[in-house]
Amino acid sequence: MTEAPDPTARVAGLFDALSTTYDAVGVDFFAPIADGLVGAMPPRPGERWLDVGCGRGAVLLPAAVGVGPSGRATGIDISSGMVEQARRLAAERGLDNVEVAVGDAQDPQVDGPVDVVASSLVLFFLPDPVAALRSWLSLLTPGGRLGVATFGPVDPRWDDVDDVFTPHLPPRLTDARTTGKDGPFGSDAGMERLVHDAGYGDVRTVTLELPVRFADAEQWHSFTWSIGQRAMWLAVPEQERADVRAEAERRIAAYADPDGSVTFTQVVRYTLASRSS
Ligand SMILES: C[S@@+](CC[C@H](N)C(=O)[O-])C[C@H]1O[C@@H](n2cnc3c(N)ncnc32)[C@H](O)[C@@H]1O
Repeated sequence: MTEAPDPTARVAGLFDALSTTYDAVGVDFFAPIADGLVGAMPPRPGERWLDVGCGRGAVLLPAAVGVGPSGRATGIDISSGMVEQARRLAAERGLDNVEVAVGDAQDPQVDGPVDVVASSLVLFFLPDPVAALRSWLSLLTPGGRLGVATFGPVDPRWDDVDDVFTPHLPPRLTDARTTGKDGPFGSDAGMERLVHDAGYGDVRTVTLELPVRFADAEQWHSFTWSIGQRAMWLAVPEQERADVRAEAERRIAAYADPDGSVTFTQVVRYTLASRSS
């Protein structure tokens, strides 16, 4: 399969392909990260929330519960597969104050204003993050809140496992958590500057250290195919994937507990801000 030349179309295709397994392989990852974001700026009854790059609704659905029947939670995502999953889960939970649509986070076309813009693990996929943050600001009411989750420093043991992909990766893919070792996604200060430069006030950071447990190497393997890291597998020639997997399993075994499980730490950075006027 040839890759779409446009980066946004490429990301949409990637997430469409994994939308049915995303956050569904038994690893507690996206939900606790989203819960941390929602908990850092608790929803108030009656608020309007916009979840940008909502995926299957890790932020959107708890936000909808928090704002209650008099509030509204809107999610947009570039992947129609993700939008379909979010709609299905909202319906399963009986949430009728949720709406989900296909849309580009770079410049969401939604009816504003909203009280809160939330975005979990999305900003680093966008071609121009500061322009995106500016477009979100224009949707916020004065005093409205922004919360963005990105990844903090990597666990060196997890990094060692992910390093099995490195020889096969193009430069744009060399970081499994898409943090970027340099640039805005490499530090709290870098993210705060990015948000400040986009025009927000009261910018600050809250950090979560999340233990991420894989029952065994098999679950690690399923997880990697179910998230954005799938792009790394696709960069490995098919005939070499078994060797890459075997090397990853060898490294995981070195870090495993006696029961065969392995627990890495994921640091999550929440950059919080508000619209001053
Ligand atoms: C790592 S997932 C996070 C999903 C969700 N926020 C969560 O926490 O589970 C990244 C999401 O961003 C979406 N995305 C990436 N680029 C986008 C864009 N330009 N516009 C809208 N959504 C985008 C992807 O389709 C995917 O659903």
